[in-house]
Amino acid sequence: MMALLMDTRLSYILRRVKDLRCFTPRRNRMKEKWATTRPKHPPTTLALQHFDSTYSVQLGQLWPSVRAALLSERKYGALLNHFSHDASPADLEAQGCRDFITDTDTQAQLCSEQEPEVRLEEEDGVSLKKSHADQQLSSLRLSPNIKCLVFPRGNITRFKPAKPDMLGYLGYYLMDAASMLPCLVLDVQEGHSVLDLCAAPGGKALALLQTQSIDFLCVNDTSVSRTTRLKRVFHSYVPKQLLSKQKLRITSFDGTKWGEIERDTFDRVLVDVPCTTDRHSLIEDDNNIFSKSRTGERRGLPQLQLELLLAGIEAACPGGEIVYSTCTLSQVQNQSVVEQAVSLALEDRGIQLQVVDLRPLTHMFRKTFHFAPDLHVGEMVIPHLAANFGPIYMCKLKRLT
Ligand SMILES: C[S@@+](CC[C@H](N)C(=O)[O-])C[C@H]1O[C@@H](n2cnc3c(N)ncnc32)[C@H](O)[C@@H]1O
Repeated sequence: MMALLMDTRLSYILRRVKDLRCFTPRRNRMKEKWATTRPKHPPTTLALQHFDSTYSVQLGQLWPSVRAALLSERKYGALLNHFSHDASPADLEAQGCRDFITDTDTQAQLCSEQEPEVRLEEEDGVSLKKSHADQQLSSLRLSPNIKCLVFPRGNITRFKPAKPDMLGYLGYYLMDAASMLPCLVLDVQEGHSVLDLCAAPGGKALALLQTQSIDFLCVNDTSVSRTTRLKRVFHSYVPKQLLSKQKLRITSFDGTKWGEIERDTFDRVLVDVPCTTDRHSLIEDDNNIFSKSRTGERRGLPQLQLELLLAGIEAACPGGEIVYSTCTLSQVQNQSVVEQAVSLALEDRGIQLQVVDLRPLTHMFRKTFHFAPDLHVGEMVIPHLAANFGPIYMCKLKRLT
């Protein structure tokens, strides 16, 4: 009798569960299944553990606030597309946005113009010189054609997706506003030939095209699928006549071999290397460099970054300038790579480089971004809850020989 009662009760419960499943949205049912197959140590957790151990040492007291920002929703900037008929900033300005590139901290600018001489640094006979801050400021001519609108500090409004104009070109491109800084630092001038060595999906290349001063742009990325994505981006933003072969070359070569193809050629080279993409690694398990299967690839990043930077240095012409950038906070992937590249370029290739002082830039944009204090080489935007951009590290090198 007892067994019969239990049986009836069990079948009742099972029926109820089955009924309930009908009312459970499919999305949730998928999640249940996903939860059971989720690895014990998902890549996002491994990334957080790794960052906690390394960045707490590297950033010290700054780490808890940077950590909180990294785990919160990031902020975007809207890069205006001058090739679109809907490129007016008026709509965005009406929503409270401002172009951070023109809205600089003029007080800070004045201070840096009066700044005393900057210390010269020598390391192992390698020129890690920082020139006068004011000299650098006057030589940094920001293109008036690049406009990137952001919501003010503390305002976390999201941008609406950009709309196509009558010819189908989108009015703006959404990207981390701090990603604009390496493009500005590159200081592209009229008639320059420019190489973007690791270009996909193409946000920075698109910003460089907005300057409308480049004579020839070579856009490269080793990944064929990502290069295809870059081409799609270009077709949504750039008129066909500008995509002609005389003005633009899109390739999918291994950038580390570039020095073997084309040396001493480009006025400007952007080396925006693959890295641990700290923000992505903390929020997305898919395509995560901290997944166990990619440990070797992750450990090999500094070597790959070094080879890419050296190839970029070789591709620049004497007198040309190279900007190295990443979206990681890691000192091993940032400053260490630059320092090694500067030494090896001299030792193995006889190329002398000067590290350009970017402090004037950090003064100018301190209203918009938080910068890491006292970096030995280069500058870095660090995430902050009130201005949740970055991380973006950048360092500019000038080829002296
Ligand atoms: C940080 S992403 C570049 C982002 C891009 N600059 C932008 O603004 O949209 C790094 C890129 O480097 C590419 N890459 C990785 N190894 C490479 C190599 N050996 N040569 C050239 N590109 C490489 C990756 O496919 C990836 O698209």
